Amino acid sequence: MERSAWKLLQLSLALPWARALDNGLALTPPMGWMTWQRYRCETNCSGEGAQRCINEDLIKEMADRMAEDGWLDAGYQYINIDDCWMLPERAEGRLVPDPKRFPSGMAALGEYIHQRGLKFGTYGDIGYKTCQGLTGFHDHFEEDAQTLADWKVDYIKVDGCNENQEDMARDYPAFGAALNKTGRPIVYSCSWPAYMPHHCEKTDGCMNSLIQHCNLWRNFDDVADSWDSVKSITNFWKRLNSSDEMVQSAGPGHWNDPDMLLVGGFGLSVSEAQSQFALWSLFAAPLFMSNDLRDISQEARDILQNREVIAVNQDPLGKQGFCVAGCDGNLRVWARPLAGGDVAVIFQNLGFAGDGDSITLPTSTLPFKTFRIFKARDLFAKKDLGIFREELTLYVHVSSCRMIRISAATEQQIMV
Ligand SMILES: *[C@@H]1O[C@H](CO)[C@@H](O)[C@H](O)[C@H]1NC(C)=O
Ligand SMILES: *[C@@H]1O[C@H](CO)[C@@H](O)[C@H](O)[C@H]1NC(C)=O
Ligand SMILES: *[C@@H]1O[C@H](CO)[C@@H](O)[C@H](O)[C@H]1NC(C)=O
Repeated sequence: MERSAWKLLQLSLALPWARALDNGLALTPPMGWMTWQRYRCETNCSGEGAQRCINEDLIKEMADRMAEDGWLDAGYQYINIDDCWMLPERAEGRLVPDPKRFPSGMAALGEYIHQRGLKFGTYGDIGYKTCQGLTGFHDHFEEDAQTLADWKVDYIKVDGCNENQEDMARDYPAFGAALNKTGRPIVYSCSWPAYMPHHCEKTDGCMNSLIQHCNLWRNFDDVADSWDSVKSITNFWKRLNSSDEMVQSAGPGHWNDPDMLLVGGFGLSVSEAQSQFALWSLFAAPLFMSNDLRDISQEARDILQNREVIAVNQDPLGKQGFCVAGCDGNLRVWARPLAGGDVAVIFQNLGFAGDGDSITLPTSTLPFKTFRIFKARDLFAKKDLGIFREELTLYVHVSSCRMIRISAATEQQIMV
């Protein structure tokens, strides 16, 4: 048996949970575009708001850009309308999109998206009201799941505002069952852990249920457009190691979600944007942009469409990476085991004084097996760095990272 397959088998035997959700979806982390971080709940579409309010024109324009500007080819497939598409009241028991901003209706918008080869995602809430006070799914799970299926929705993010913590263990699985009953495969994103005191770990005891009922779940705080926000989210993740419940819960069909990418926004420098994209890829996180694809810089495009970094994110082994050295300091090393025995490594310098520092990784310290003699490739520089034995030392500028892929060196390369 191949070593990676053997490790996978060992791991699956060790998993405490019986079975994961098997709707056949999200076998690699979903990729796409979502309204929330950039467009929030802007509902005023007159004057200057016309370009950035939540309406069908915004979604159609982004769908055009996604299909035509290389995003779909790179793997970005879902286009998701977050909160604020619906009216505050139901009509005949059904959810209703705001008729001023979505005059063609959701089914027609879904068709527009599908015609471009993209997938249609949207948002709801497990409570009576969404986070912005609009209509939630509570008490209407079956009708609402059916409404989404009728509109040919492919992905639903279900938020947890205005719901009691203790009811979530009943309601998130129940909404998942209602989705299943429609017969339409719909990716199910649960915000449940973001509302629990320990984020579903430890005594919260909901990690197991997440894996059984959800394709992905928002673990922690919402991201906002600043490096501080990225740092606070990565500081929540850096404490995890290979045996951690949260790391082990990720796999094909079920993923942890640290929230959207800020790349193409206003808050991150180019090196910080690379760092977020590298870390999210190593975390096996969903890659959802929330930017303006009608007006995006070449630097941001190059980061987001970097095929070699995306390949790490989409690696078929589906293991989540974690911090392996220097996790409480400024010089951190993160690693993720990949299919075929390759390893993705991030050398991150969180310092901000001076030019940079050298960081060394002795590969024997990795908590999984890798090659003793290996070749290393720099994924942002798109350069092979050479053949190495036992360890790798790299110079990393402040506020920056370098992302490396380690793979087996051929005998011929070793001889040279
Ligand atoms: C909407 O925006 C326009 C121009 O940007 C402004 O004049 C108007 O007062 C706004 N309407 C509301 C309801 O806030
Ligand atoms: C419904 O659940 C069953 C059992 O887990 C699964 O085989 C099937 O694919 C699911 N269907 C949909 C549409 O999610
Ligand atoms: C992972 O971390 C936990 C607690 O932080 C610790 O008890 C455990 O030994 C660590 N496991 C590994 C493999 O490092």
